[in-house]
Amino acid sequence: MAMASKASVPHILFLCFLLFPLLVVSQTHSNVTLGTHLIAGEKGSPWTSPSGNFAFGFRPLEDQDSFLLCIWFNQIPDQTIVWYANGDKPAPKKSKIELTTDGQLVLSNPHGQELWKADINSSHVSYAAMLDNGNFVVESKDFNHIWESFSQPTDTILPGQILQVGDNLFSRLTNTNYSRGRFQLRLLEDGTLELNPVALPSYFPYDPYFSIEAQPADPRSRLVYNESGLLYVQRSNGSIVYVSTTVVLPIADFYHRATIDFNGVFSLYAHPRPSRGSGGSWSARKSIPLNICLINGDLGSGACGFNSYCGIANGMPNCECPPEYTQSDPNDILSGCKPKIPLACKEDELDSPEAVFEFKDLSGTDWPKADYERFEPVTEDECRKLCLKDCYCAVAIYRNVTCWMKKLPLSNGRLSASDTGKALIKIRRASSVSTKKKNKKIAIVVGSLGASVFINFLLLAATSLIAIFAYKKRPKSSKQVSNISETNLRSFTYKELEEATNGFKEELGKGAFGIVYKGHFPLGSQNLVAVKRLDKVVQEGEKEFKTEVSVIGQTHHKNLVRLFGFCEEGPHRLLVYEFMSNGSLASFLFGLSRPHWDQRTQIAIGISRGLCYLHEECSTQIIHCDIKPQNILLDDIFRPRISDFGLAKLLMPDQVLTRTGIRGTKGYVAPEWFRSMPITAKVDVYSFGVMLLEIISCRRCVETAWGAEEKAILTDWAYDCYREGKLEDLVERDEEAMRDEKKLLTFVMIAIWCIQEDPSLRPTMKKVSQMLEGAVDVPHPPCPFPFSSIY
Ligand SMILES: *[C@@H]1O[C@H](CO)[C@@H](O)[C@H](O)[C@H]1NC(C)=O
Ligand SMILES: *[C@@H]1O[C@H](CO)[C@@H](O)[C@H](O)[C@H]1NC(C)=O
Ligand SMILES: *[C@@H]1O[C@H](CO)[C@@H](O)[C@H](O)[C@H]1NC(C)=O
Ligand SMILES: *[C@@H]1O[C@H](CO)[C@@H](O)[C@H](O)[C@H]1NC(C)=O
Ligand SMILES: *[C@@H]1O[C@H](CO)[C@@H](O)[C@H](O)[C@H]1NC(C)=O
Ligand SMILES: *[C@@H]1O[C@H](CO)[C@@H](O)[C@H](O)[C@H]1NC(C)=O
Repeated sequence: MAMASKASVPHILFLCFLLFPLLVVSQTHSNVTLGTHLIAGEKGSPWTSPSGNFAFGFRPLEDQDSFLLCIWFNQIPDQTIVWYANGDKPAPKKSKIELTTDGQLVLSNPHGQELWKADINSSHVSYAAMLDNGNFVVESKDFNHIWESFSQPTDTILPGQILQVGDNLFSRLTNTNYSRGRFQLRLLEDGTLELNPVALPSYFPYDPYFSIEAQPADPRSRLVYNESGLLYVQRSNGSIVYVSTTVVLPIADFYHRATIDFNGVFSLYAHPRPSRGSGGSWSARKSIPLNICLINGDLGSGACGFNSYCGIANGMPNCECPPEYTQSDPNDILSGCKPKIPLACKEDELDSPEAVFEFKDLSGTDWPKADYERFEPVTEDECRKLCLKDCYCAVAIYRNVTCWMKKLPLSNGRLSASDTGKALIKIRRASSVSTKKKNKKIAIVVGSLGASVFINFLLLAATSLIAIFAYKKRPKSSKQVSNISETNLRSFTYKELEEATNGFKEELGKGAFGIVYKGHFPLGSQNLVAVKRLDKVVQEGEKEFKTEVSVIGQTHHKNLVRLFGFCEEGPHRLLVYEFMSNGSLASFLFGLSRPHWDQRTQIAIGISRGLCYLHEECSTQIIHCDIKPQNILLDDIFRPRISDFGLAKLLMPDQVLTRTGIRGTKGYVAPEWFRSMPITAKVDVYSFGVMLLEIISCRRCVETAWGAEEKAILTDWAYDCYREGKLEDLVERDEEAMRDEKKLLTFVMIAIWCIQEDPSLRPTMKKVSQMLEGAVDVPHPPCPFPFSSIY
């Protein structure tokens, strides 16, 4: 009883919190009567649906000065937009949307000029309403939809919505620019459903990259997103071709939408409803096509812009520029790339082309549609020379003994881990152009000296003022950086980090060493950093901390989280890392939807490379001691990055690698921690093996909620499945994995080698990485638990 009364105060508070949004929602405009309007940029609630799930109104665009008239999910933090009226004509502040007294729905700017108007041909309009399914309707007196947003779709459809032949969805230009973009989904007159790129600004459709054909033609076909969240093409005789998976996520628990994203991928998304508790996010349950990088039309640039290349990450394309190329439009990732220094090859430079051009190598990259010459057999060196001597040649691909020469613009660029070729990117040496520029600068200075002494004086004064300012603004701490030479680590003041994290407000996660916070700091590509506060560090001398930090600071590998700097001030010890936008491998693997098999295998390979680097390739061997999915983070292209490495010594300066303090996490800890055996890098191999099984099966290593006891411990169960030849059970009949049977078996065998109880039987990380990549054969592993397990 006492407990209950104690708890009641927070309960009341909690209820207030619950009621608050309800109160707001209760002011919903369920019916929009004639003569009602909304003004862009003014306070006042949008027109919401009776349940409050959807809203119709204005949302500010990125510049905050113009507005989009749109419909959005109103009860989730994302406020995802599902329909918009004026994507290509942003509405300035104080624009007005009005359901006029004569029944027209008009968006006009502050000068009264019309920006958009619903196509209403009736004089019988009675009212308008935002419905609970996301449809905004204008109703007649006899309750017919005279106009509805569902029949004017933009890039999204919702359950309940149906497309007829001739209808299409079109992507937006970028994530934040709602003008019509480069891809469309359409239901053709003959009933064929297809996805294709279009040529901006004419919208001429290029070859489709996905289609469901109607055989024979069936102009009464429809694309139906039914109220259970299933998406299918329905033929006139009633037969159905599914576009979505046939597994339903209950509408009562999840919001659903299907969107053609700006990058051309058409995805079916689900989001837990707010009634299931706060949090959650959209996750793609199915994406079409599986790999948009493989678009291969005859015209156009492919998935990314010209000269760009595309890598696939979680079904989403990632466009990158070749070395010494830069994105054509910095705000538009699909705009393609251009050489930083134009190649501008001239015949008279070809006498000694080496002085003018050089190559940057890029492995696994190809632009399969840009060839104009092929040489075979040649050596790589000959390939380089051939390209150097040819003004057309912008890139040469060297694979086996073949040299392919390519000219600009490069199209359909792609990056593939299985491509054994190498792209030789020809670039103009800066030295071959900069001399002319320097001459110019000198000319200007001389010229202005010749002009007026007075102007020169002004210039001088201005420059010195700027210089003084710049000096003052420079953070004081930068002087201390020299303490840790050799690395380019930066030393931060505590105050700087306190400000960057807004007083350690936003927590990203908790680790074995303390809490990690999100911070804003102009470092790296995103201006975001992760600040780790080490609260359990033993107060050792300054030297100890700095030595450790400098060891971490000297690591450079694409599969490790990068350390930018540190703070060491009084009792405070903090580390500042690169921010990883896609969370941890744990949330990726064990989330709502099962990630693609290809991606999982790539992630496994990446982690093995990172570990191999820590064990064998950096100047001081680093044993991680706590490999698990929570300590693997995913960057913006879903590349795995190992975090939390190198900290073991900071925590327990004297006793690392002894049994007195077992490091690691239950389920992942190697057996030698419990036995009188030396602790070596093989403990990481063991943990990696357990994690590899988790990556293969998308389940946690210990799962008690699974009912069947024999499945509870993943390592045991995986070996059972392997021994009995039932790997399909291990991957829960994952179709992609089962289609790749050979790799699945290899990966499971590698994992079983890694979890051998006898450390000397476990392969090194280098060997593991070679085996995963298919470079060496994998023999059949013995039973990993020859002694009875001590767990
Ligand atoms: C909206 O208006 C119609 C017609 O006047 C009426 O039947 C309906 O009950 C109204 N709905 C709400 C929620 O007020
Ligand atoms: C409006 O509807 C009337 C009758 O339904 C029709 O005659 C007329 O052509 C329509 N106008 C437009 C512009 O669609
Ligand atoms: C969106 O992109 C188009 C084309 O580049 C541009 O004209 C327009 O101004 C952009 N709109 C916004 C709101 O940035
Ligand atoms: C949606 O379609 C599926 C398959 O055709 C059907 O089983 C289900 O009942 C449909 N749901 C609704 C609400 O119509
Ligand atoms: C319906 O028509 C499609 C072709 O449009 C055909 O493949 C299918 O077999 C037909 N189904 C039935 C039940 O007639
Ligand atoms: C490389 O090319 C040679 C000659 O064309 C061919 O015999 C050989 O099989 C190729 N090797 C690979 C790995 O493709």
